Amino acid sequence: MKNSKKTKSILFLPQKKKCEFSGQPSVLEIAIAHELPLNHSCGGLGSCTTCLVKITKGLESLGPRQELEQEHANMRGFADQERLACQITAKDGLEITIPIE
Ligand code: FES
Repeated sequence: MKNSKKTKSILFLPQKKKCEFSGQPSVLEIAIAHELPLNHSCGGLGSCTTCLVKITKGLESLGPRQELEQEHANMRGFADQERLACQITAKDGLEITIPIE
């Protein structure tokens, strides 16, 4: 019998690492689980902004910023596609670019 549950995945760049997930993890949780080099100084509390990533595909599938993320975006002038990985729930088909330091 065919499994009716479609596998969900996101792609991290520039590593070109496709990461499968289930449930509703944050993008940061997936990056940590796959040992990708994404900073998260505050541990995902939404206070440090070190987990800032660029959404290169699928931005429209994400909801609007929540209050905390929006405050950072206003203060620091984030572009629309710049989001905090700990504050966004992973969606199937996202492409996320991790900044190179
Ligand atoms: S890990 Fe600190 S804001 Fe996301």
